[in-house]
Amino acid sequence: MRVLVIGGAGYIGSHVARFFADRGLEVDVLDNLSTGTKENIFPEYGFYKEDILDYAAILGVMKRGYDAIVHLAAAKAAGESMVNPEKYALQNVSGTINILNAACEAGVQNFVFSSSAAIYGEPKYLPIDEAHPKNPENFYGFTKLEIERILEWYDRLKGLRYAALRYFNAAGYDPEGRVRGLEKRPANLVPVIMEVAMGLMPQLEVFGTDFPTPDGSGVRDYIHVTDLARAHYAALMHLANESKSFAVNLGSEQGLSVLEILEAARKITGRAIPATISGRRPGDPAKLVASSAAAKALLGWKAEYSDLTTIIATSWRAYETHSAQEKK
Ligand code: WQD
Repeated sequence: MRVLVIGGAGYIGSHVARFFADRGLEVDVLDNLSTGTKENIFPEYGFYKEDILDYAAILGVMKRGYDAIVHLAAAKAAGESMVNPEKYALQNVSGTINILNAACEAGVQNFVFSSSAAIYGEPKYLPIDEAHPKNPENFYGFTKLEIERILEWYDRLKGLRYAALRYFNAAGYDPEGRVRGLEKRPANLVPVIMEVAMGLMPQLEVFGTDFPTPDGSGVRDYIHVTDLARAHYAALMHLANESKSFAVNLGSEQGLSVLEILEAARKITGRAIPATISGRRPGDPAKLVASSAAAKALLGWKAEYSDLTTIIATSWRAYETHSAQEKK
């Protein structure tokens, strides 16, 4: 099976590409390297440095003939999307429409899309299942929901079969230590903690300890990237076999608090990791936890690498390895 992984040099995309190649799929990566890194392109992949806004270029690549496209090329900072919606409208909405139109023109039939828990907004109940109301609280979440709606129409009108994978909080690195490119200027909790542990950032700011949670800090559902990669593979196989579109949550079904993660990181890294408590970040809910029952029923998938120790230990190994290489 031949697959084009768009955004395959990025954080999640690099893990998906690696996992697919390990299972014998023929992998090509298309990425403009704006946030992804060339270190994540393995020699056995075909690589096209193109921008998803360049229709002619991506159509040219797709005409090489693919059984499926996995699309993970997007801007993903929810806070930034509220101050720079133009960037998110263009990259996440226009960019994806370009990809979908090129896929239809080139005759690619299967499409795996990186969606997000951000489409649900403030939780009305927990755990969040796929039937939960969809009211995104930020423009980033809106762009993902908008594409899911366009996908429903392209399924009906163009026969494109899709899997919309709604990630909760992706974290961790390849347990075998092969993915070497780290995220640039991270804003998410685990990579920020890693940067503080490495001495690259002075301290962690804990955004609020006055939430109605056991220790007062925010609780999220952290899902290891290897579990996400496994789910992409299962989703693609399901699409190829059943030829029926679907949308599922991908989470560990476990809630972890900011302070629990900080403590675990201090233990595992052996570093002090200075932290201060600051005010809540606008739009942050107290607690988000997924129900992944649908992914289990449909794909036979459940999280296997998403315990706190594995998430922190695999992240720390990636950061330490990277820094050791840079010193050489
Ligand atoms: C996690 C927790 C923060 C940074 C985002 C997107 C969402 C989805 C997942 C992809 C929260 C706290 C964080 C810091 C902190 N993405 N925190 N100090 O906001 O839950 O979700 O990623 O689709 O759409 O919004 O992730 O990693 O930013 O925060 O205290 O420096 O850590 O308040 O409780 P978030 P996050």
